[in-house]
Amino acid sequence: MKTYETTTMQANSFGITQAVSALKEGYPVALPTETVYGLGADAFNLDAIQAVFAAKQRPQSDPLIVHVSSSSATLDSLASQEIIDRESITAVMAEVYEDLMQKFWPGPLTLLFPRGRKIDASVTSGQPYVAVRQPDHPVFLEILERLQRPIVAPSANLFGRISPTTAAHVYNQLEGRIRFIVDGGTCCVGVESTIIRVEEDGSLTLLRPGGVSVERIFSSTGLPVKSLETTTQEEAAPLAPGRLSKHYAPSKRTLMVTSVKDLMDIDFLLQVRAGILSTRPGSSLASDLIAAFPETAWTIESLPHDREGQAAAANIFSALHRLDALSLDLILVEAPDQCDHLWRATVDRLTRAASD
Ligand code: TXA
Ligand code: MG
Repeated sequence: MKTYETTTMQANSFGITQAVSALKEGYPVALPTETVYGLGADAFNLDAIQAVFAAKQRPQSDPLIVHVSSSSATLDSLASQEIIDRESITAVMAEVYEDLMQKFWPGPLTLLFPRGRKIDASVTSGQPYVAVRQPDHPVFLEILERLQRPIVAPSANLFGRISPTTAAHVYNQLEGRIRFIVDGGTCCVGVESTIIRVEEDGSLTLLRPGGVSVERIFSSTGLPVKSLETTTQEEAAPLAPGRLSKHYAPSKRTLMVTSVKDLMDIDFLLQVRAGILSTRPGSSLASDLIAAFPETAWTIESLPHDREGQAAAANIFSALHRLDALSLDLILVEAPDQCDHLWRATVDRLTRAASD
């Protein structure tokens, strides 16, 4: 892979103009969204798409999300640009798509549509569905308007590693691998978009929990969202690329624990430097561990607690990045005691980060 001098640009008019020119020339550019930073490329330029896979060291089997502008965010507009295939959308599906787009776009909700002719098979890893969302970030939206083309954007991290929520997180992983990062500050949602598939009968399947909770989807549309986990393996197989059990991972060994008892047989803890990511309000895990392993050098991070989990989601990746930047031998993640609302996305990311 070619190496580049990586420049971080402010998201002012100069930076945005540079980003648009680089995208037009076929270079990937890291861009801020409300969820995480994305590594953007012109969705109609096959070389640019390949450059994204190369920069991230991402396998071709992991499909990309297509990001569209405000003016493209209707079924008719997506169909007229041949991003989606309108013919394969039944009337009942169309009603559900329109409802979801109207209520949740721009925002952290990605919808799967029958793939249109202008979307190359390399974007969807050969699948008949394309994932599309309209991001809710003024800088990304302005770049989409100026480029006048959709943008593919996976999270701007090396494949399998912790997702970036600041420009510095992107730089630390992709320095030398891309030309430009547009710095739009910290991503406010902090976890990736929720991915939903609309079935032929108009029912909804959750492929990835994220920044819009299934509770919110139900309360604003009346539509229940079934989990992929509850469908059969055969049904799940074609939907599952990228849903790897190990993902979002720190470079250090990471374990999920609920109490000090989980670690009693790990005698190497006596000699190591370890981090704890505490996730439960009023938890005694950190103090129990310090008491049980007094020779270990401990660093403690705590996720903020709120009932619906917004604050925890907004901080999870930055807390993991901080721990990963220290010279630790081990990171212990406390298993959260909540799993609804936005906690579902946080639990999903932490479970994968701590998976062997
Ligand atoms: O919030 C987000 O969605 C961020 C920002 C940058 O928009 N993007 C993001 O992209 O999280 P990425 O590439 O890190 O994760 C996209 C995941 C893939 O791993 C895959 O599981 C799923 O989306 N996906 C994409 N296209 C798909 C398709 N056609 N069918 C099934 N799953 C798909
Ligand atoms: Mg990702």
